[in-house]
Amino acid sequence: MKKYLFLALLAASAAHAEPFAKGNAESGRQLVAKYDCNSCHKGKMGGDGSAIYTRADRRVTSADILIDRMEQCSGAIGKQLTEQEKLDLAAHLNKTYYHFK
Ligand code: HEC
Repeated sequence: MKKYLFLALLAASAAHAEPFAKGNAESGRQLVAKYDCNSCHKGKMGGDGSAIYTRADRRVTSADILIDRMEQCSGAIGKQLTEQEKLDLAAHLNKTYYHFK
């Protein structure tokens, strides 16, 4: 019985290990450049726009909030990200800055 509980827990933790497993981090990195995400963030942070992802009072505290935030940001420039673009961007930002499990 214990063995099955262990396997169930293992399966559950594996499912959460990478929240954006279907995203491609490399293509996400290119999308940040394509949509010029950091030029806007630079206006807020000065110098290095990507500092917004690591600021002390950062807003994004979970994988879900990350997706929400990207939708708001892309909406602000009138772009509609596809589901795959969201996953790719999220995979990149998570891998590089947020490290949500
Ligand atoms: C129109 C300007 C603008 C554009 C373009 C923009 N952002 Fe943002 N972004 C902001 C602002 C302003 C904030 C900070 C909001 C706040 O402080 O509540 C922000 C915050 C964020 C955060 C949260 C940082 C934190 O605090 O953890 C993420 C993630 C993010 N943007 C992703 C993106 C991505 C990905 C793109 C490109 C697809 C993008 N943004 C394009 C203006 C923009």
